[in-house]
Amino acid sequence: MYTSRITGMGKYVPENVVTNDDLSKVMDTNDAWIQERTGIKERRHIKKGDGNSTAVMGVKAAKIAIERAGISKDDIEMIVFATLSPDYYFPGCGVQVQDLMGIHTCPALDVRNQCSGFVYALSVADQFIKTGMYKNVLVIGSENHSGGLDFSTRGRGVTVIFGDGAGAAVISRSDKEGHGVLSTHLHSEGKHALELSLKGPSTNHWVPALIEENPQEDIPYYPYMNGQFVFKNAVVRFSEVIMEGLKTNGLEVTDIDMLVPHQANLRISQFIQKKFKLSDDQVYNNIQKYGNTTAASIPIALCEAWEEGKVKEGDTVVLAAFGSGFTWASAVIKW
Ligand SMILES: CC(C)(COP(=O)(O)OP(=O)(O)OC[C@H]1O[C@@H](n2cnc3c(N)ncnc32)[C@H](O)[C@@H]1OP(=O)(O)O)[C@@H](O)C(=O)NCCC(=O)NCCS
Repeated sequence: MYTSRITGMGKYVPENVVTNDDLSKVMDTNDAWIQERTGIKERRHIKKGDGNSTAVMGVKAAKIAIERAGISKDDIEMIVFATLSPDYYFPGCGVQVQDLMGIHTCPALDVRNQCSGFVYALSVADQFIKTGMYKNVLVIGSENHSGGLDFSTRGRGVTVIFGDGAGAAVISRSDKEGHGVLSTHLHSEGKHALELSLKGPSTNHWVPALIEENPQEDIPYYPYMNGQFVFKNAVVRFSEVIMEGLKTNGLEVTDIDMLVPHQANLRISQFIQKKFKLSDDQVYNNIQKYGNTTAASIPIALCEAWEEGKVKEGDTVVLAAFGSGFTWASAVIKW
């Protein structure tokens, strides 16, 4: 059996910075509320005409990851693209990346697991590498939230949280035992599917039907989030899936060198940090700068932690995610 390692990481966020004060100019919100409840100070939004899209941002992050992995695009044998905000209804962003980067006719798979999307995608790559099928898999998480958010006061409970951006990783085969992706753990619970959802437009909910079905104030073509219910489930599932990963590998909480949680909300990360008695140096957060970028949040955070020298060779790194579906997941990595 082979092992799989992250050999290169890249990230890209649009240049356009949107502060809490900027949002308070278009909706009834304020910097103090947003910072207190979410920790977010600013986020990035694609600007009309800047050429970015979910796939394009994914390409920008991927190019950096491939260069840092010391390989060429021609060495990529599979693309796994995680997003909840694809450029098209179909086809998926994976094939767009393939075309934009001129990658040969390898398989391109899109993953639809929202905030857990990157860990799910990493797990897919890990399986293909461990079975010996592929040597290099490109994994991307990218989101364009800003195009589909409600910027009126009605949408303030959701809109202030989300930002745009992309992160990417090259997962490569390694012969070194005890290193790389030690295990991944994936879960879902469909009974809560609509607690954090975007109903349509979709084949089951085209706009006229959506408007007819719903009371005037409920606009179902914007994302819906039952914030407190999401919060309560998130803290439980984050804890469970982190412990599951540690236990599988015979590790203790004290063995964690770096926890990179999905950047859902700073209060969720702080709750987990406190529960596991982790120091500030053991948990990486950058939601303050980028907001919640869903499938992109873990690869952006992991990439940034690595760039800052906070993830080093030999470190035990734990990734953990929770989000719409509900879905939740973790990965334990020996860097
Ligand atoms: C969304 C969240 C920040 C809201 O915080 P909360 O403490 O639950 O706040 P509530 O929704 O109860 O709203 C409290 C009040 O603030 C108001 N409010 C909501 N959004 C606001 C905003 N952006 N600015 C100002 N006020 C706002 C509400 O209307 C409500 O007002 P009311 O008391 O007059 O009715 C919180 O529920 C949360 O963090 N949930 C988890 C979200 C998450 O992590 N999502 C990503 C999952 S991957």
